[in-house]
Amino acid sequence: MDTVFEGSLGPQAMRRAGSQIEALKERLGRTPTACVITFGCQMNARDSEKLEGVLAEAGFAITDSEDADFLLYNTCTVRENADNRLFGRLGARGSELKHSPWKKLAVCGCMMQEQINVEKIKKSYPYVDLIFGTHNLYTFPALLDAVYAPENEGEMIISILPEADRIMEELPARRKYPFKSGVNIMFGCDNYCTYCIVPYVRGRERSRKKADILAEVRTLAADGVREVMLLGQNVNSYGIKVPAGEEADYGTFPELLAAVAETPGIGRVRFMTSHPKDLSDELIEVIRTHDNISRHLHLPLQSGSDEILRRMNRRYTKEQYLSLCDRIRSSVPDIALTTDIIVGFPGETSADVDETIDVVRRVRFQNAFTFIYSRRNGTPAASYPDQPEPERVKRDFDRLLAVVQQTAREECGKSRGLTGTVMVEGVNENDPSLLTGRLSDNLLVHFPGTPDLIGKFTDVELTEAKGFYFLGKQVGTPW
Ligand code: SAH
Ligand code: SF4
Ligand code: F3S
Repeated sequence: MDTVFEGSLGPQAMRRAGSQIEALKERLGRTPTACVITFGCQMNARDSEKLEGVLAEAGFAITDSEDADFLLYNTCTVRENADNRLFGRLGARGSELKHSPWKKLAVCGCMMQEQINVEKIKKSYPYVDLIFGTHNLYTFPALLDAVYAPENEGEMIISILPEADRIMEELPARRKYPFKSGVNIMFGCDNYCTYCIVPYVRGRERSRKKADILAEVRTLAADGVREVMLLGQNVNSYGIKVPAGEEADYGTFPELLAAVAETPGIGRVRFMTSHPKDLSDELIEVIRTHDNISRHLHLPLQSGSDEILRRMNRRYTKEQYLSLCDRIRSSVPDIALTTDIIVGFPGETSADVDETIDVVRRVRFQNAFTFIYSRRNGTPAASYPDQPEPERVKRDFDRLLAVVQQTAREECGKSRGLTGTVMVEGVNENDPSLLTGRLSDNLLVHFPGTPDLIGKFTDVELTEAKGFYFLGKQVGTPW
């Protein structure tokens, strides 16, 4: 059943979904379980919290086990290996469903905004019950109702919108952590980096109104959240493309960031991601003057070669990137810089990678995510003639990685002996006598302590540097 599902929103759809799940509960003689598996970035992670919120409200018990009665894959398509991982999992699920006919399988997220993937599921995985995209998450209660409606038994329900028609404010969310949360400040991306699929699967850039964002942050704070992460593909362009005459309802990203940091109860603010082309001095100043804004900036470089940057449509040069890093560091000396780098973009040579390595040596990133270029259908770079030669790419990738790891290890170890504030996130997975906390610059610290500190801030002396994390000792009183 192919449908652009308008679905009624709000309480009625939620109530109808709830009564379907109530019927399922009676049939099974137990509370049905639901599981959401998330691939991809922070946006997807936040979307999954909303999807889980709907599932919980409809009456499911949420579980981490893929054996659940309702299994939903929230997909990513930024690189090809992400796609392959999904198809592997869908294949494995087929025989399981034959033996448990009441179980439902659903797929959503960025991959589903590409027609070719929907076609492939229709053809090769016909037992999938529901497919929907990134633009109609808010119709999930209605879609859930449709999946369980007896008249749709055995149908594949497909509901994809080509473009977002509204900003959804109304879904409940089930947070993974009680004490920290992502907050969407904008959706989509208009940057069109030539390698990137995101603008095609997440649609045009749209900002949420400042008052809605601040109201959400206040509600989260009242619910015990101490740390928020403001989310957008390019947070620096928050509030720029807004309806004429409504500019005052948005303001700029630095203004928004300051207002969030000044919200009572919010002990720490992070944000993701900043595009180097439009990171303003005003933003640097807001970070400098608010010590609860994290001392961590993720600033994707992608390449250090001017020619490759031009072909990537990144709209900055190597020198501009380096001078931006200098400006940031001279204002906020204790800030950690991290980055993303792509190796193997069409036309790239080893000399271009030398330029990238030069930037890594000069900026000294605390961490860098290095990716091999993945050709994405429909992006401009996919049709560039000089696609890379895999052997050369592998050699250059390894060269780059060696420098990244060496400089990152040195950078990470720099704070040894100092005292830093951590947000305590949980009990250490390998040693239950240790807690794990995160410093303002995003590094992890493991230190002896009791679980009552989880969700609190405390100062920790960083006694031992272990490469990419610290061992430490709690000092002072937690808050
Ligand atoms: N909006 C964010 C990044 C989103 S994607 C930003 O602009 O920084 C995260 C990272 O994936 C990108 O920074 C890039 O390094 C990488 N990436 C995106 N498309 C890719 C592709 N086709 N091949 C390899 N890596 C890619
Ligand atoms: Fe992709 Fe570029 Fe947008 Fe980031 S800024 S999501 S890399 S198009
Ligand atoms: Fe992937 Fe979509 Fe995020 S393609 S990186 S999940 S926006």
